[in-house]
Amino acid sequence: MALVPGALREIRSCVATARSRDPAARGVSQLEILATWPGVHALLAHRLASAFHSAGVPLLPRAIAALSRAVTGIEIHPAARIGDGFFIDHGMGVVIGETAEIGNDVTLYQGVTLGGTGFATGKRHPTVQDNVTIGSGAKLLGPITVGHGSKIGAGSVVIHDVPPNSTVVGNPGHPVRVEGRRPEGPDADWVHLPDPIADAIKALASRIAVLESAVAPPVQEARAEAGSENRVGDAGRDGHNRRDAVNRSLGPNPAGG
Ligand SMILES: CC(C)(COP(=O)(O)OP(=O)(O)OC[C@H]1O[C@@H](n2cnc3c(N)ncnc32)[C@H](O)[C@@H]1OP(=O)(O)O)[C@@H](O)C(=O)NCCC(=O)NCCS
Repeated sequence: MALVPGALREIRSCVATARSRDPAARGVSQLEILATWPGVHALLAHRLASAFHSAGVPLLPRAIAALSRAVTGIEIHPAARIGDGFFIDHGMGVVIGETAEIGNDVTLYQGVTLGGTGFATGKRHPTVQDNVTIGSGAKLLGPITVGHGSKIGAGSVVIHDVPPNSTVVGNPGHPVRVEGRRPEGPDADWVHLPDPIADAIKALASRIAVLESAVAPPVQEARAEAGSENRVGDAGRDGHNRRDAVNRSLGPNPAGG
């Protein structure tokens, strides 16, 4: 019988959290939130599945999780540990893995993954500390820790620990604010990362321009004298000689050719 007050408390807490965290829930009745908020359904289903999982009940925890996933689009492993004041806004596409740990007052938006990076066993999913917000579509992979009070931008891919009270954005996820300030130092410029492929393409483009100006005149002359194969051969040889000269002056071809 002690279960009933506990369950009622949990339901009230879930609804209150949705109301305080979701602007769309302001002015909406508790009953309506309880009946129609998928994040609330998913969390309540998880609390039930988790209780059965902790009690060692077979099959039922996974069955509840699977049903909840079918209804809400939110997949939470029954073994995942989730604190109080947890809220998933919109919900669809959220995945929370088996060894994920989530602190208190955490908010996730749709499409967030707290996943593993491969087939590793043991602790392989993220730990998210208190008061963290994770934007829609963000992927947090591996046994990383997201420090308390941090924000993860929508669409980020995060595979390293996040310091407390930081804002991390992008792919790869990188801090743009730590304790309210922009990170400084030699590793802080994530906008201008080296791009060897772009560098090689730029070098190739400049070589092509030089080669065109070196090779084009004899070929045109040769074409102008159509019918003279010898001249074309001379022009080809001439072009090769010029290309060798270009190679000597510009160094080896960055494309490896
Ligand atoms: C990251 C976020 C929480 C903002 O945090 P914040 O601490 O207020 O950070 P700011 O808005 O000051 O932005 C900090 C920097 O990150 C950039 N940034 C913010 N969000 C970003 C994102 N998702 N992806 C890439 N860059 C982002 C900003 O342009 C800014 O860059 P700058 O320093 O060069 O000007 C917010 O942008 C976000 O992504 N929220 C998720 C919201 C969401 O998922 N909503 C779904 C509703 S359905």
